[in-house]
Amino acid sequence: MQVIIVANADAVGRIASAKIAAIVGADPTAVIGLATGSSPSDTYRALHGRVTKGEISFAGATGFALDEYVGISVSDPQSYASVITRDVVDPLGFDPVRVHVPDGRAVDLAAAAEAYEAAIKAAGGIDVQILGIGSNGHIGFNEPTSSFASRTRVKTLAPRTREDNARFFRSLDEVPIHCITQGLGTILEARELVLVAHGESKANAIADSVEGPVTSFVPGSALQLHRHATVIVDEAAASRLRLADYYRYVTLNEPQK
Ligand code: GLP
Repeated sequence: MQVIIVANADAVGRIASAKIAAIVGADPTAVIGLATGSSPSDTYRALHGRVTKGEISFAGATGFALDEYVGISVSDPQSYASVITRDVVDPLGFDPVRVHVPDGRAVDLAAAAEAYEAAIKAAGGIDVQILGIGSNGHIGFNEPTSSFASRTRVKTLAPRTREDNARFFRSLDEVPIHCITQGLGTILEARELVLVAHGESKANAIADSVEGPVTSFVPGSALQLHRHATVIVDEAAASRLRLADYYRYVTLNEPQK
């Protein structure tokens, strides 16, 4: 795992965008796993800057969102389908036909989850998965004790996650209780993982994920099992990493590729 520590959230976005841009630059039909939430918004903004300058194009790329709330209307501004359209598809110029979000309104949610897995497979798998992390260490909506072998499925949101996400809704009561999320097994199959985080509220989750034991109690620790995972954090999110100085040293002394 590579850990890159930078000054602030803006720099997190810039470094992450350079990674994604390199992948899409090399393969304009790349399959990108898309996270929602505040963590990747600087990354999407930086990518938007590159698209505007004509450096890269997502017109031929495919996208798969990590997760969706259950029971929320697609047109609700807080559905992840809406968020992905607003934050990713429109500004980055994805073809909406090639951007997929799990169907949280399906009558048969288990079938919708299976169809989502099949769609990822049919697209050739995910080339790079962008990830944020919850304050309790969740990735996607895989809450603590999610199996590392899990696939896309319905989950019950942890009370803490609902509280964290209440800021996007008018009240806590409006935050859905269920979601449909790519599993940790699904995420681990992406060819590359890029996790971005900023702020003090993520410091414990980052330290536990990067340096703690590999345990389903901390879903982010699944990244330790991936052969190509990069964690990009600002100083505040890095503040509880015991080997922070070592990661800085490694970044300064990267071997020639
Ligand atoms: C959300 C999303 C995750 C996200 C995490 C952190 O609920 N389901 O994909 O990474 O929680 O959110 P934020 O980046 O807003 O702190």
